Amino acid sequence: MINAKLLQLVVDASNDGIVVAEQEGDDNILIYVNKAFEHLTGYNTDDILYQDCRFLQMGDRDQPGLDVIRQAVTTGEPVRQTIRNYRKDGTLFWNELSITPVFNEADQLTYFIGIQKDVTEQVLALQKVEELEAEVAALRAQLVQSNRA
Ligand SMILES: Cc1cc2nc3c(=O)[nH]c(=O)nc-3n(C[C@H](O)[C@H](O)[C@H](O)COP(=O)(O)O)c2cc1C
Repeated sequence: MINAKLLQLVVDASNDGIVVAEQEGDDNILIYVNKAFEHLTGYNTDDILYQDCRFLQMGDRDQPGLDVIRQAVTTGEPVRQTIRNYRKDGTLFWNELSITPVFNEADQLTYFIGIQKDVTEQVLALQKVEELEAEVAALRAQLVQSNRA
């Protein structure tokens, strides 16, 4: 069995954010964040400990992915959604967020583990491809029109 010290090194070596949250009323408050989470979001552990991660949305709450996450967290299901989040300095990043519930031996939901992966480059590249596809489709339509004229 892997010891706790080695496990800590594994978590610290991750390029993705790793957090643990505990339920408190309607919130799931952070009780642990790794170094990659601090690096990704620009927040220090002391800034955000015992807060719900929704502060990363900075008011950008009209996102279908958040409804899916809320539903899964309420029912204790695992979930993965890509959502818009904002660093401490206000810059946007696309967060592929995976949440996994943790149950104790009595089958009670005790914690959630969250993994935050910065997928901004992939999302922007995909948006560019979609823009280019729309341009190609418009040019094709123009060509068909002019051939008919
Ligand atoms: C372990 C865990 C990690 C989370 N990480 C993030 C995150 O990185 N970014 C984010 O916007 N929301 C995150 N959330 C989701 C929010 O805490 C919250 O569930 C979501 O905003 C939907 O609920 P609300 O409408 O009550 O805010 C996380 C939730 C859990 C349980």
